[in-house]
Amino acid sequence: MNIRTIATEPFDDQKPGTSGLRKPVPTFQKPNYLENFIQSIFDSQENYQGQRLVLGGDGRYYNRTAIQTILKMAAANGVGRVLVGQGGLLSTPAASCLIRKYQAFGGIILSASHNPGGTDGDFGVKFNIPNGGPAPAEVTETIFARSQEIREYYILDADEINLDQPGETQIGNMTVEVVDSVADYADLMASIFDFDAIGNLLSGGFRMVMDALHAVTGPYAKEILENRLQAPNGTVRNGEPLEDFGGGHPDPNLVYARELVETMYGNNPPAFGAASDGDGDRNMILGDHFFVTPSDSLAILAANATLVPGYAQGITGVARSMPTSQAVDRVAKQLGIDCYETPTGWKFFGNLLDAGKVTLCGEESFGTGSNHVREKDGLWAILFWLNIIAKRGQSVEEIVKDHWQTYGRTYYSRHDYEGVDKDSANTLMENLRSGLSNLPGKVFHGYEVTLADDFSYRDPIDGSTAEKQGIRIVFKDGSRLVFRLSGTGTHGATLRVYLERYEPDSSKQNQDSQTALGDLIAIADEIAQIKTMTGRDEPSVIT
Ligand code: G1P
Ligand code: ZN
Repeated sequence: MNIRTIATEPFDDQKPGTSGLRKPVPTFQKPNYLENFIQSIFDSQENYQGQRLVLGGDGRYYNRTAIQTILKMAAANGVGRVLVGQGGLLSTPAASCLIRKYQAFGGIILSASHNPGGTDGDFGVKFNIPNGGPAPAEVTETIFARSQEIREYYILDADEINLDQPGETQIGNMTVEVVDSVADYADLMASIFDFDAIGNLLSGGFRMVMDALHAVTGPYAKEILENRLQAPNGTVRNGEPLEDFGGGHPDPNLVYARELVETMYGNNPPAFGAASDGDGDRNMILGDHFFVTPSDSLAILAANATLVPGYAQGITGVARSMPTSQAVDRVAKQLGIDCYETPTGWKFFGNLLDAGKVTLCGEESFGTGSNHVREKDGLWAILFWLNIIAKRGQSVEEIVKDHWQTYGRTYYSRHDYEGVDKDSANTLMENLRSGLSNLPGKVFHGYEVTLADDFSYRDPIDGSTAEKQGIRIVFKDGSRLVFRLSGTGTHGATLRVYLERYEPDSSKQNQDSQTALGDLIAIADEIAQIKTMTGRDEPSVIT
């Protein structure tokens, strides 16, 4: 067994963002770039020698190459056993499931989520901790600090592992176990949802389509929907994971999941349409000519949770990221449970879930999940909706409209300005920040500002704090504007503007959301000078 020690120099750009380290593929291909970051992960961990690690990715370009390198480095660093998904594939929620089920000390997930893939696309590395969730800031900061001092890394001389054949191989003192990527996750889903009811629905003429966007969820969706739940073959579209996602942008929203949107808004559409992202943690839910806003989706899942066997006893609490609409708050209030508001990013939900404070959580960015794993989970959300539909016997639109009648409608939209100049975006945010104290009391288009701040969060479990998590401007009637810069983009800056307005009157709940939010859109531009500062007349993506 020959472990080599390789001399290296730090790269100054290895600070993880909202969700791991994401860079263009050519950056990861620089000599030692991946190795430095992986070694920094191992160096930041204690007592993992001889323990289990979970490894897999969303199948994008560079996934297999990176896995071979990481396996040799894991062996050199004393890991006992690596569970790697067959073909190198593991969706983010499936990786979380394996870490928890097999008590691994952590997991390395190779993904840049919804960012495009391929030789010119993005690649990414995320590290998850023993609870199955994303490493909290304290851990990612240690990893980053280590990456700034690194001088050497360790790698075993070993042959490439056959990732396509399930079974065990020994490299050095470490066992590599290639595991079925889907089985454990599918079992977990079967233990939560009413598979009999969903199976009857799907085999009984209810038409649905699931677009996997040539990303990692394809094999999961085929096994669960078509095999276990007997939906007709072809229910899962674009189900074969491709290294470049077929040239697409694997982000399940109205812009990037165009084919699905055309189907659902076309002639005689199926009753239910869904999509998931690159690594399988996001979801989009559509009905016949109907789009479910992710913030509403979270609220509806919470309100209907007891229809699902896994949550039949009720939910203990809910959490949402700050920019997510307050629709779920109203459900929590009615149920008499707590609702937590956290900064953007799934890592902030981990402590609340571990402590049993919340059962469901979600973000406006097409992410919903529960305490079944410690990641958001696309297929889980899709199955949740199918479970609700099977039990209520209503269409997607009817379920949503019933919800609005009971709780009021929260008009909501996010406007993204992608790839804008970094300096201009930073100046826009700085200008906003410095003007915050002047806003309360001011009236714009009839909306009076009652609160304007830069969101900060104190974790109620461990007391850690996170500052500057987004600027929020709250108006007297509860309407809100939120401004943030993305922490996942890799080109320039992305400005995200979140708009929200509450409408309790059911006779006014059928407006188009951009129309209903028209005043707030104008106010956002007035306050932040978006057009002037970004040089853009309109957002690149509206969700
Ligand atoms: C985006 C979303 C955020 C999500 C993250 C990872 O981060 O806004 O809700 O947790 O992707 O999927 P952002 O680019 O806004 O930092
Ligand atoms: Zn994702």
